[in-house]
Amino acid sequence: MTVSVFENYQSLSEHTASIITTDLKNKPALTICMASGSTPALTCDLLVKKIKEDSIDYSALTFIGLDEWAGLPPTNTGSCHYFFRTKLFEPLQLNPSQYHLFDALSDNLQAECDKMDRLITDKSGIDIMIVGIGMNGHIGFNEPGTSFSSLSHVAILEEITRSVGQKKYFNEPVVLDKGITTGLQHLMNAEKVLLIANGGKKAAVIKQAVEGPVTEDFPASIMQLHKNGFVLTDTEAAALLNKQ
Ligand code: GLP
Repeated sequence: MTVSVFENYQSLSEHTASIITTDLKNKPALTICMASGSTPALTCDLLVKKIKEDSIDYSALTFIGLDEWAGLPPTNTGSCHYFFRTKLFEPLQLNPSQYHLFDALSDNLQAECDKMDRLITDKSGIDIMIVGIGMNGHIGFNEPGTSFSSLSHVAILEEITRSVGQKKYFNEPVVLDKGITTGLQHLMNAEKVLLIANGGKKAAVIKQAVEGPVTEDFPASIMQLHKNGFVLTDTEAAALLNKQ
């Protein structure tokens, strides 16, 4: 695992976007799995910009959504679905056959998980994963206590995940009791993983992820085990690290 600290959110996002575009140039049939949320928002904008400016061929790209709030329709502006549609799929006019998101409205969420696991296997694994970190150290909706060998699953969300989510992403009250998510085994098997974080609110969880014990009680600590794992932060999120 390598830790890199950038001056601000802009330079962190520029760097993240440029890693993705470089990988896409090197491997046009790239399989990318990405988190939504406030952290990767600017990365998505810059990614679209760079792809257009450099006329990068993305016709063979496969996109996988990392997770979704169970029960939310894709039209809900706080859903991961809505985020990706407005930030990536529409701006890039991505062919629907190229993107795969959990159907959070399915009456068989386990079948959604199985479908996602099969897709990842069919693609011979994920080439690059871009994830954020939650206030309890979660990655995707892999909450504390999730096995490092988990595949896609439905997760019962902790109170902190529900309350932070409600405040951050939704204007109206919503039921956020469960999430559907790719698993930590998918992260471990990915060729490359970028964990991105910005802002002082993430400083304590970044310290624990990077310098704390590796434990399933703090899912992001799995980054320490990844041979090609990169933790990319701005100076504020890195403020509590011993070494920067
Ligand atoms: C959410 C999502 C994660 C996301 C994380 C951080 O609950 N389930 O996939 O990475 O929390 O989100 P943000 O980037 O908005 O801080």
